[in-house]
Amino acid sequence: MREIAVSGVRPTGKQHLGNYLGAVVNFVRMQEEYDGYFFIADLHSLTTHPRAADLQANVRQTLIEYLACGLDPAKCTLFVQSHVPQISELYLIFNMFAYDGELHKVPTFKDKVRSQPDNVNAGLLTYPVLMAVDILIHHATKVPVGKDQMQHIEMTRNFGNRFNHTYGVEYFKEPTGFNYGDAPLSVPSLDGEGKMSKSKGENTVIYLMDEPDVIRKKVMKAPSDSGPTEPGQAKTEAVQNLFDLMKLASKPEVIAQYDKAYDECTIRYGDMKKQIAEDMTIFLTPIRERIREISADQSYLTRVMEEGGEKARASAQKTVRDVREIIGLKSR
Ligand code: ADP
Ligand code: TRP
Repeated sequence: MREIAVSGVRPTGKQHLGNYLGAVVNFVRMQEEYDGYFFIADLHSLTTHPRAADLQANVRQTLIEYLACGLDPAKCTLFVQSHVPQISELYLIFNMFAYDGELHKVPTFKDKVRSQPDNVNAGLLTYPVLMAVDILIHHATKVPVGKDQMQHIEMTRNFGNRFNHTYGVEYFKEPTGFNYGDAPLSVPSLDGEGKMSKSKGENTVIYLMDEPDVIRKKVMKAPSDSGPTEPGQAKTEAVQNLFDLMKLASKPEVIAQYDKAYDECTIRYGDMKKQIAEDMTIFLTPIRERIREISADQSYLTRVMEEGGEKARASAQKTVRDVREIIGLKSR
């Protein structure tokens, strides 16, 4: 039997290169080796009270882009979180195993208290409980996520173990965070400051859907420098960022050529940025075309959601039935 992997993303609309290279490529690769449950975490996104129409549109767009990136409903279970009501039921039960003190200490919660003091709702506080349930309900052992989510995985293990201990069972397994390679890839922002994130503004991210001229315009605005004046000079932060961006989509021989030009002090950053934009365009064009094709096929999307929901509910239903029995609630 294959190991089970679970991961979710909040439906935030258009995906960017960071989302793709940092997260989605892992799912695409994992679907070949694991029983993957990949879902759109629409319940989690309710903490920010999105407008109904926006939420719907964002769920759909996220699904379209995941399919365009290569997630294949024949190879994994691709679903929308709210289509699996068993998750909400198990979430209620797991709230009994999460302590107020530990929830208040979670760094992602403390960040929200700082960033949105007007909306510190209980859903934010119990966000890690819902996430733990997403993982435990399918008995996942691998959870492909970035570094910022590792604390949530640790809490998932704690909640599962606490449940097991309380009822004297060995029912839930311990999941661990997962990524291919030593560390999760971090895609830099175009402005050279930190990682690419849509919260930093339109011009600092490359969306999978960006047209070639938009990609070019954004990349040309990336900061550079006047260049080295003597061999062996260390790269400035801005220049290093250009090289990091180049690594994402350019061929090794192209990178080597620019490395050499840097060493020989003949590098021209305008040319380098043109090359980066061109290579990103080549890389993203097939994805953009797939996005357009899939967007036009609403019945396919509906079918994917229905079939994924059905598979996820079957797996979740079995867990909820077991849990009800273990804790002494009569099964329906
Ligand atoms: P954003 O920062 O744009 O709001 P999200 O927080 O919605 O992105 O991230 C969705 C997924 O994409 C997460 O798994 C996250 O780890 C990954 N991700 C986001 N930005 C990057 C990046 N710049 N590099 C690598 N992975 C990223
Ligand atoms: N909290 C994750 C994020 O913000 C999204 C998420 C929700 C998730 N449920 C999950 C990730 C379960 C992995 C497993 O990126």
